[in-house]
Amino acid sequence: MAAATKTSTKAKTAKPRKSTRRTGRRDPLAIRLLKQDHREVEAMFDEYEQLEADKDKLALFNKIALALKVHTQIEEEILYPESRGEVEDDLIDEAYVEHDGAKKLIAEIEAMKPGQEFYDAKVKVLGEYIKHHVKEEEQPGGFFAQAKKGDEDLEAIGERMKARKEELMEKMGGEKAH
Ligand SMILES: [Fe+2]
Ligand SMILES: [Fe+2]
Repeated sequence: MAAATKTSTKAKTAKPRKSTRRTGRRDPLAIRLLKQDHREVEAMFDEYEQLEADKDKLALFNKIALALKVHTQIEEEILYPESRGEVEDDLIDEAYVEHDGAKKLIAEIEAMKPGQEFYDAKVKVLGEYIKHHVKEEEQPGGFFAQAKKGDEDLEAIGERMKARKEELMEKMGGEKAH
């Protein structure tokens, strides 16, 4: 019971790593696909900060909103349910709740126009919120790390997500354009 307490050393000495094979390995398709989406949306939030004109802000926000809607939907339809039993339940539940929070904020922003009070602030807060969520997914021991350790075929899941993403981009992107 009483585990031997290790004398804590003040210095942040790096623990010798046994192996870096795992970290050096290429991610399975499902994870590569989602990480790529994360990088794209992060870049769009950065780009938003540089914009001045309201019409440019609106156009870019529409792109951000579409990317986030499609991304969260493929995670919720495919990865999250497939991860039950592989990833801690609490982590999965929290991920759904964070998606809901993001969707509400997106809807609030969509009901507004750039230039209105708090528009930019809401976009900024959405970006920070997404950054937090992405960290929960990608950090060591996080959602993706746990999923990778599981038995699910993340290549096959990746193929399904890829196909669904194309379908949704066409459907939801098309709606926006008309
Ligand atoms: Fe997510
Ligand atoms: Fe994600």
